[in-house]
Amino acid sequence: MKIIKLNAIDSTNDFLKELARDQDLDNFTAVRALEQTKGRGQMGSSWLSEVGKNLTFSVLIKNSLSSIDTVFILNMFVTNSILEALKKFDIPELSVKWPNDIMSGKKKIGGILIENLWHEGGSISSVVGIGLNVNQTNFEGLPKASSLKNCTSKDWDIDQILLGIIDELIKIESLNLEHEASSLKVIYLNSLFMYKKPSVFEEPLQQKFMGIIQDVSSDGLLEILLEDDTVKHYNIKEIIHHY
Ligand code: BTN
Repeated sequence: MKIIKLNAIDSTNDFLKELARDQDLDNFTAVRALEQTKGRGQMGSSWLSEVGKNLTFSVLIKNSLSSIDTVFILNMFVTNSILEALKKFDIPELSVKWPNDIMSGKKKIGGILIENLWHEGGSISSVVGIGLNVNQTNFEGLPKASSLKNCTSKDWDIDQILLGIIDELIKIESLNLEHEASSLKVIYLNSLFMYKKPSVFEEPLQQKFMGIIQDVSSDGLLEILLEDDTVKHYNIKEIIHHY
């Protein structure tokens, strides 16, 4: 496994995607940058991170999916892997806020951006981008963001955390993701933020409403039990979870 360390780059996901298009990289090639000038988050958002204080990296997983329909299984695998790695560092109150915000208590400490590449011949590789707030302590204007340092009151060795996460991710080599879908889902639901608890939600430009997260569908939609006992499915753009 190779780790490419960069001082600065626009986005480690973009860099690794380009590299993987140009050359046949080893599986689990990783790119870590001290600074991203155009770090990207979910749904076209930006991912901001103080230079050198956090973990911003991407890992290439080759032949990650047998079809694009299984993308949420990979998402669950990656999420579970990060939580497992962080558990070993005793980070408190870990959970995943659907679909893949890494939480400690009620604060977001990390996020995941998975992008897929189709190769000639039909195989699919994934660039798994992970942003984890590690030693940054000031999140001005971001009341729901935090870091490992804020949650544990100590400084962390960022490379050690990187290796801990990669150690978990490489376990995919001995798994058949589709066969593991149901056990990955059990683990994912066990860590799901506000699972089976009443919460306030909002559809964009609509009134707030109460609901209970009761499941996540195989294509990754959030299933919410509403007050009238009906169940509604939402994708990421269709729902805001207030907490
Ligand atoms: C989110 O919105 O929660 C996902 C954030 C993902 C950020 C990481 S940082 C490394 C990689 N490169 C990017 O440009 N984005 C991802």
